[in-house]
Amino acid sequence: MNEKIEQLRKNIKEALSVKLTREEFKKLREQYLSTKAGEIPNLMKEMRNVPKEDRPQFGKIINEFKNWAEQEFAEVDAAIKKEELAKANESETVDITMPARKNETGSLHPTTIVKQEIIKIFAGLGFDVFEGPEIETDYYNFTALNVPSDHPARAEQDTFYITENILLRTQTSPGQIRTMEAVKPPIKVLSPGRVFRSDYDATHSPMFHQMEGLVVDKNISVCDLYGMLDLFAKEMFSSEAKTRLRPSYFPFTEPSVEVDVTCCECGGSGCRLCKGTGWIEVLGGGIVNRKVLENCGIDPEEYSGLAFGIGIDRITMLKYGINNIHILFENDIRTLRQFKQQNIG
Ligand code: DAH
Repeated sequence: MNEKIEQLRKNIKEALSVKLTREEFKKLREQYLSTKAGEIPNLMKEMRNVPKEDRPQFGKIINEFKNWAEQEFAEVDAAIKKEELAKANESETVDITMPARKNETGSLHPTTIVKQEIIKIFAGLGFDVFEGPEIETDYYNFTALNVPSDHPARAEQDTFYITENILLRTQTSPGQIRTMEAVKPPIKVLSPGRVFRSDYDATHSPMFHQMEGLVVDKNISVCDLYGMLDLFAKEMFSSEAKTRLRPSYFPFTEPSVEVDVTCCECGGSGCRLCKGTGWIEVLGGGIVNRKVLENCGIDPEEYSGLAFGIGIDRITMLKYGINNIHILFENDIRTLRQFKQQNIG
C-alpha cells in the first residue's frame, strides 16, 4: 500500500512540475481527486479489504496523503490564477491620464426662464399660482368670461374644438373663473400655461404660453393695475422702462387696456423693433367686467378686480432678441445651448 501511495505521490509531483494550462490542470485534478473515480478516492475505497486492526493506521496514512495532494493542487491552482490575472491586467491596461467623458446636463428652456421670472416678480407682490387644465369647456374658456356666442374668437378658424363643448383653451383666462369659483376674495393669483390657437406665421404658433393675472378685493382700480404692471416692466426689462396704458377691448374687462413698455432695444427713441414708435405692446388687461364677477358668484357692489394676460413667448422674444417664435419650439439643441451659457453667465 505504501508503495502504491509513493508511486502516486511521484506521479502527481511529476505531473504538476510542468507548466500547465487551466484545462490540463482541471483534467489532472479530476484524475486524482474526483470523488467519483479519482485515483486517491479509489484508494480509500480499498479500506474494505484491509484487516480491521490495520484500518486506523491505513486511514491515517491515506488521509495525510490526500491532504498533501489537495495542498499541491491548491498551490498550482493559485499560481495559474495569478498568471491569468497578470495577463488580463496587461491586455486591459487603464490609461489613468485619459480625460473622463463629460456628463452633459440639461438647461432651462428660455420660455421657462421667463415664466419663472414673471412668477418671481408677482410672488413678491403676494400672488399665488394656479394652473388650470389645457382641455377646457366652452363655458370656462368663453361663456363665463363674457364672450358672447357670436364673438369672432369663437370662430372655428381660431379655436381647436374637440367636441361642440370641449376645446383646447385659447387663453389662460379660464383660470380666473376657476379661481373665483374655488376661493373667496381677497384673491391674488397667477395662472400660467400652454394655450392653443389655429394660427401660424413668424410671430404666431398654434401652441404658445400665457400668464394670467387676477386680483379681486375691495376698491381695486386702474391705478392698482397700472402700478403693478409698471413695477413688472421695470423688473422684467430695465429700471428705466416706462409703461403706458392704451384703451382697448376685451369682453371680460371693462375698461380694457393694452400695456406698452418703452422699447427695450432703443430705450424709446424709435427703431426697427418698435417700428419707430419707441413703444412695444407687452400685454392686455383691465378691470374685471361686473358680469364676470357675477358669473362666479362675487358681488360686484362689494368687490372689484383687475386682470391681465401676458404672452410669455412674446416677452421671451423681446428679452432675448428672438424674431421668430418657432425658434422657441423647434427645440434645436444649438439654440438651447446658447441659453445654457447665458444661464451660467
Ligand atoms: N386672454 C387675452 C388674450 O388671450 C389676454 C388678456 C387680456 C387677459 C386682458 C386678461 C385681460 O386677463 O384682462 O388675448
